[in-house]
Amino acid sequence: MPATPADRIAELRRLIDDANHAYYVLDELRIPDAEYDALMRELEALEAEHPDLATDDSPTRRVGAAPSAKFAQVRHAMPMLSLGNAFEEEEVRDFVRRIAQKLDRDKPVFSAEPKLDGLAVSLRYEDGAFVQGATRGDGATGEDVTANLRTVRAIPLRLRGKGWPAVLEVRGEVYMPIADFEAYNARVREQGGKVLANPRNGAAGSLRQLDPGVTAQRPLAFFAYGTGLVEGGELPDTHSESMRTLREWGFPVSALGEVVEGFDGLMDYYRRIGEQRSELPFEIDGVVYKLDDAEGREEMGFVSRAPRWALAHKYPAQEQSTVVESIEVNVGRTGAVTPWVLMQPVHVGGVTVTRATLHNADQVARLDVRVGDSVIVRRAGDVIPEVVRVITERRPEGTKPWQMPERCPVCGSEIVREEGEVVARCSGELVCPAQRVQALFHFASRRAMDIEGLGERLIQALVDFDMVTSVADLYRLGVDDFVEMKRRADERDGTTPETVKSGKVATKWAENLVESIDRSRETTLSRFLFALGIQHVGESTAKALAAWFGDLALVRHTPWPLFKRVPDIGGEVARSLGHFLDQPGNQQVIDELLERGVRIGDARPPSPKLGEGLDPATLLVDLEIRGITPARAERLAGAFSTPEGLAEAKEHQLVAAGLPGDAAESLVAWMSEADNRALYLRSLEAQRELLTQLPKEDGIKAGPLDGQTVVLTGTLESMTRDEAKERLEALGAKAAGSVSKKTSFVVAGEAAGSKLAKAEQLGIEVWDEAKLLEFLQAHE
Ligand code: IVH
Repeated sequence: MPATPADRIAELRRLIDDANHAYYVLDELRIPDAEYDALMRELEALEAEHPDLATDDSPTRRVGAAPSAKFAQVRHAMPMLSLGNAFEEEEVRDFVRRIAQKLDRDKPVFSAEPKLDGLAVSLRYEDGAFVQGATRGDGATGEDVTANLRTVRAIPLRLRGKGWPAVLEVRGEVYMPIADFEAYNARVREQGGKVLANPRNGAAGSLRQLDPGVTAQRPLAFFAYGTGLVEGGELPDTHSESMRTLREWGFPVSALGEVVEGFDGLMDYYRRIGEQRSELPFEIDGVVYKLDDAEGREEMGFVSRAPRWALAHKYPAQEQSTVVESIEVNVGRTGAVTPWVLMQPVHVGGVTVTRATLHNADQVARLDVRVGDSVIVRRAGDVIPEVVRVITERRPEGTKPWQMPERCPVCGSEIVREEGEVVARCSGELVCPAQRVQALFHFASRRAMDIEGLGERLIQALVDFDMVTSVADLYRLGVDDFVEMKRRADERDGTTPETVKSGKVATKWAENLVESIDRSRETTLSRFLFALGIQHVGESTAKALAAWFGDLALVRHTPWPLFKRVPDIGGEVARSLGHFLDQPGNQQVIDELLERGVRIGDARPPSPKLGEGLDPATLLVDLEIRGITPARAERLAGAFSTPEGLAEAKEHQLVAAGLPGDAAESLVAWMSEADNRALYLRSLEAQRELLTQLPKEDGIKAGPLDGQTVVLTGTLESMTRDEAKERLEALGAKAAGSVSKKTSFVVAGEAAGSKLAKAEQLGIEVWDEAKLLEFLQAHE
């Protein structure tokens, strides 16, 4: 333990500086963030206690300066030069030739390094302490951003090592690493703030904040690439050596820097860095070649404000502006609808692009992209080009905000976007060609129709060769169709497997497949409903629907609000079912499936429990009309002699019936929409119809285990646990994974463990296998 506060303060400063140096210069994470923060807090506390020990180069002083109204001007002791640019190989050749001739060298030696895309700054150190930092400005005069630069942890506040000149100006680039930029934007987006357009703007904008507290919140980094004024000391004779020295004094320098020779060396470097460009953790817009030796540089001199001994060799730009010709949508395998723009062709990131993604409807709304707009498109690496922003100053007159189309451009089904969801979807699950592969794959899967042998590759081939347009077509295919398809697939893929050589093998394979398709015709209602691949209708929802409605015909023609009578089915699932069933194409596929021999083996009357909510008041609540609470719905149902009358009611009648004014207004507005009124009337009708179909309570029971929850544990001899579960569920039981007070009984096989113990502890009925078999025999 250090004896005095002064010692501890010195130690803490050293630990913190070492951590920064390790991270930014050595590329090592020495101590976790939390520990770093703890050291900082301890140092802050000590310095507060001992103000006499506080110094300007303490890491606690990185943020400290008050916001200013304006930046002071700084005249650079040595001008900050710019660089000549080259885009073409020929320009690089000329550059090398000029140097070779003037210096009379065969193969000049260069220092090559990446050209970072950020903001150039000059950092002044006096006697090893950071005293002033400035932007480049016009090259002669820049802005004093010392307070902001102090917050950049990659910039040393004190030089390390030894032998530094009394005055040293270090030049380099402040930039924002891509990952930090993205994380920053993600955080801001979540909080509804303003995102940064790209890492370069992020770096430039952050440095030019008048409040250093704001800069400190931005993830900025720094690379040194040169020096300015040097007094009272010397630097090595070559650029590459100088960079190594700067690194020793505590500055981050690019690890990608290399010493290369002649034109070929430069081009090779350019290509190699170009290949890595999209994977680098920061953005670069080119590479910089600098004659390595000081003597040669001196001899080369300058033209206007750029040195003749250096050259920036640029990569194709990653951002360009162009004009939006139209906004289209694409429908993915899962039915997700993604907007994208068709643009006037533009050269960006080395290729010509005409399309850019807009990700989703939210993004379109946020950017407010409209047809006719000038936009900035960006293509970084191999990623899909995206629209970054609209140049609103160039917006022509008469444009309108974009709206998601109402119908799927591929199949014409309705496009649905649930409240609170980012993604819009096509509701033509069974008919949309875009969703065909996905629909077939799901339909055939084990927990759905369980068609053995029909895997994804096969399905893809069926779709590719246009042999099926919907899941119903599976039941039309014969052995010959599959043999033919296999032949075509092998031909296309250039494979000559056994199947082609021997027709017999192919036939046997096809026969098996047709047989397993045939076997799948006999199914259960829950499997069938699950197989349709309706958005939000998973296996357990399908089982619940089957248990409550019993019959496919009934499910198919039930208006969505009535689905909410099934426990666990909420508005989102019910509406999704409704959208699916509303698409004539989906209904037609169901018809075709039945025509082609698919049979629901376990059809039965609906559960009597369904009758409990079949009244007009419950319906009003389930329609989700704003302001209609259960109590108000009761009042309304009582006040009108027929529920149909409610559809025509005027606001004053509703108020007279006891509704507050705003609820009455909202109900009238809702009913005034034809679709809504039709849904209301159709639902009333369906409720009445359902009531006539319901079995009497004492009639045929929907299931003897209705409402009971069972837990299965241990090993059964005569069947698997899954099978037992299915059979119990078929009788109305709900299977659960763990024993609780709500468990009705536990079926315990051999070697049952903790679940059995828990049941005994809670006094819950336990069945052995014999009792289970007896019960199944009596009730199936
Ligand atoms: S050297 C006399 N090296 O590019 C040479 N510049 O137009 C002065 N830049 O604004 C610059 N990476 O901010 C040099 N490795 C690098 C660089 C680099 C980025 C920027 C610099 C300047 C611009 C040159």
